[in-house]
Amino acid sequence: MPVSAAPGPPAAALGARVRAVLETAEPRAKVMRARALRRDWRAGRLAHDLSVGVPDRPGRPARPELLPPSAMSKRGKLGSARGRVAMLHALAHIELNALDLALDIVGRLGAGLPPAFADDWLSVAADEALHFALLDRRLRALSTFYGALPAHDGLWEAAASTADNLLARLVIVPTVLEARGLDVTPATVRAFAAAGDPRSAAILQRIYLDEIRHVGFGMKWFGTLCAARGLAPADTWRELVRSRFRGSLKPPFNDSARRQAGLPRDYYAALAS
Ligand SMILES: [Fe+2]
Ligand SMILES: [Fe+2]
Repeated sequence: MPVSAAPGPPAAALGARVRAVLETAEPRAKVMRARALRRDWRAGRLAHDLSVGVPDRPGRPARPELLPPSAMSKRGKLGSARGRVAMLHALAHIELNALDLALDIVGRLGAGLPPAFADDWLSVAADEALHFALLDRRLRALSTFYGALPAHDGLWEAAASTADNLLARLVIVPTVLEARGLDVTPATVRAFAAAGDPRSAAILQRIYLDEIRHVGFGMKWFGTLCAARGLAPADTWRELVRSRFRGSLKPPFNDSARRQAGLPRDYYAALAS
């Protein structure tokens, strides 16, 4: 066969790369690999092949120690330096989980969907990687680090309880849990600014704006799937929250940020605790 007719090396599979990032335990390596994965996908270097599957639980470093939610001691008030460090540490942990969740939805539930689905969630994974990196760097500037405090081991529960159902995953993770972040973050930003820590406040504000986009991706794909399956979106959303979400929807809601993300008040207002 003439050399010119020889096929090039087969492109690496997207699914294998997703799996490799999920299995990475060391946070800074996970961050770098997630960002490289998004770059390689965008550059067309990966085949849209998701046949490899994902691990049940992502790789985690030896520290932080993971405790059941009931064993976590209360964080101090944000007026104290200790309370603020505990908050930044808890948020770093949430971002690391969010990174894995964004990859898990592609690797576990994204087969059969168009490449645009992977585009969106790989960009979310890259954002979450950046959010973790910003918080990790901020913790170091405050003479501590991610892993110095125990962290909550309940965050992967939402992934496990929606592992069989893409619609449920889209409802519970981006449009319930991440939307909850939109409700509470503005007050946290103000508390850091009032406590004389404008650098942390700026990081949290940056995260807040990105999270509006993430909730928006959730609503976009939820709407696309409902339309394709002939489901009524508002009723389906509420039914899935009732059947798949253990917590309650706590007001007050950030209606304007939720609306910007495409999540109308009539979806959630009737379920408020
Ligand atoms: Fe984030
Ligand atoms: Fe997010």
